[in-house]
Amino acid sequence: MADDAPTTRREDLQPRVEVLLEALPYIRQFAGATIVIKYGGAAMTSPELKASFARDVALLKLVGMNPVVVHGGGPDISRYSDRLGLEVRFERGLRVTDAPTMELVKMVLVGKVNKEIVAQLHVAGAPAVGLAGDDGGLILADKAPGGEADLGFVGRVKAIDPRVLERLSDFVPVVASVGVDESGQSYNINADTVAGRLAAALGARKAIFLTDVEGVYRDFVDPASLISECRLGDLRALVDAGAVGTGMIPKLAAVIDALEHGVGAAHIIDGRVPHSVLVEIFTETGIGTKVTA
Ligand SMILES: Nc1ncnc2c1ncn2[C@@H]1O[C@H](COP(=O)(O)OP(=O)(O)O)[C@@H](O)[C@H]1O
Ligand SMILES: [Mg+2]
Repeated sequence: MADDAPTTRREDLQPRVEVLLEALPYIRQFAGATIVIKYGGAAMTSPELKASFARDVALLKLVGMNPVVVHGGGPDISRYSDRLGLEVRFERGLRVTDAPTMELVKMVLVGKVNKEIVAQLHVAGAPAVGLAGDDGGLILADKAPGGEADLGFVGRVKAIDPRVLERLSDFVPVVASVGVDESGQSYNINADTVAGRLAAALGARKAIFLTDVEGVYRDFVDPASLISECRLGDLRALVDAGAVGTGMIPKLAAVIDALEHGVGAAHIIDGRVPHSVLVEIFTETGIGTKVTA
């Protein structure tokens, strides 16, 4: 019957309308807010995940938030260093960034990975601008103290000058985790560290770290021990107790750094799940681990 059609359609639309309405308070709450997102690892592995990430970020921008993307190199750096036959050296188990490797890191991070993310955001409808630490003096770096080991051009953040990002407010900034010192020398910096410092310098409301696990586990061998919400003090205790290893160490150090410097909340979320950024921001329960001061 002819008048059945609109009725059925209206019923179909109801759940979609609910989803949009659920997003409304979050759109209002985060209007104009800066949200720093560390992108990398698992979420960079497949074309589908890359596209879904770009659409999430574009949506945030188009509803009036200010997402800032920070990224590392992912597996591309090792891949190209193999291809070019660069010798990989380790000192006390840590990878050394010598001069040829630093040149490659810049080429891959700034020339390839950064531009790919910018292109994906363009496709998703949010014009983006790619930057490295030397653009506008954004990330002033110096050599990281390696202790006994000389790790070459591995740097730490000395200062952030956010003025260039303020000028780019119509665009989504995409920042490669490369810093520069006063002499023009580039340094490879951990992207989690850069995201934490950038969030602090920008007075971000949130910092979101995409990773390759569900979130932070109290006991890494027990998947049931996922922490869905905790305070800064709990997180410090967890780190001090040695419950955190490998790549989670710089990530949680960045979380602590950001929260100590006024960032409202930090989230460690699963980058393997499509649209995890949207789930985190637009739903009551969120996803992954939420840390507040
Ligand atoms: N307590 C913990 N909770 C969650 N992950 C942990 C913990 N301790 C160590 N990890 C490790 O940290 C890894 C995430 O960091 P990393 O390998 O640098 O990936 P990414 O930089 O893509 O986030 C996880 O895959 C896991 O092996
Ligand atoms: Mg990592």
